[in-house]
Amino acid sequence: MLTTINTRRSVRRWTDAPVPESDLRDILEAGMNAPSAGNEQAWQFVVLDDRQTMEAYAALNPNVTFLGKAPAAILVCADTGRERYPGYGLQDCCAATENILLAIHAKGLGGVWGAVFPQAIPGIRDLLGLPASLTPIAVVPFGAPRGARPDAHSRYDAARVHKNRYQA
Ligand SMILES: Cc1cc2nc3c(=O)[nH]c(=O)nc-3n(C[C@H](O)[C@H](O)[C@H](O)COP(=O)(O)O)c2cc1C
Repeated sequence: MLTTINTRRSVRRWTDAPVPESDLRDILEAGMNAPSAGNEQAWQFVVLDDRQTMEAYAALNPNVTFLGKAPAAILVCADTGRERYPGYGLQDCCAATENILLAIHAKGLGGVWGAVFPQAIPGIRDLLGLPASLTPIAVVPFGAPRGARPDAHSRYDAARVHKNRYQA
């Protein structure tokens, strides 16, 4: 488990190999097993694997242009209709996104957390038919990595750890 966490790195280039359905299911299950505020699970997941749709998505959100070439992607959306604690859907979705990234890595695949730019949201809503109750939070393109995996040296930094009281 710790090895999986500590060796995960962002992957932004993939082969054309499709993601097996069973892997996709396991990855989504990991997302759905994330902690959430009061167990509200205020999330919805839109799986993208249609090339035309993915290229259109990439054109809307230029920080993830590589998504147009990914075998698959998962858009993690906060569902305000499911929030028991208003505003916490964002944090639920971030927890789910990290679980998704870890599951992708555990499967021997590679992915990256793509931010959803606020200005891209109206276009994403139109493209994917998202109702007003859903806000896209993160998009994770993934697949089998192409080329060498990024180096995963340890980032442990004792200077970032503070005991009982913050010390600059
Ligand atoms: C909230 C968040 C937003 C991110 N947005 C993007 C993005 O839009 N495009 C991108 O290529 N990477 C994005 N990343 C990935 C980061 O660039 C990456 O995690 C960071 O450089 C550390 O590298 P690592 O993931 O390989 O450890 C994002 C990561 C987070 C947590």
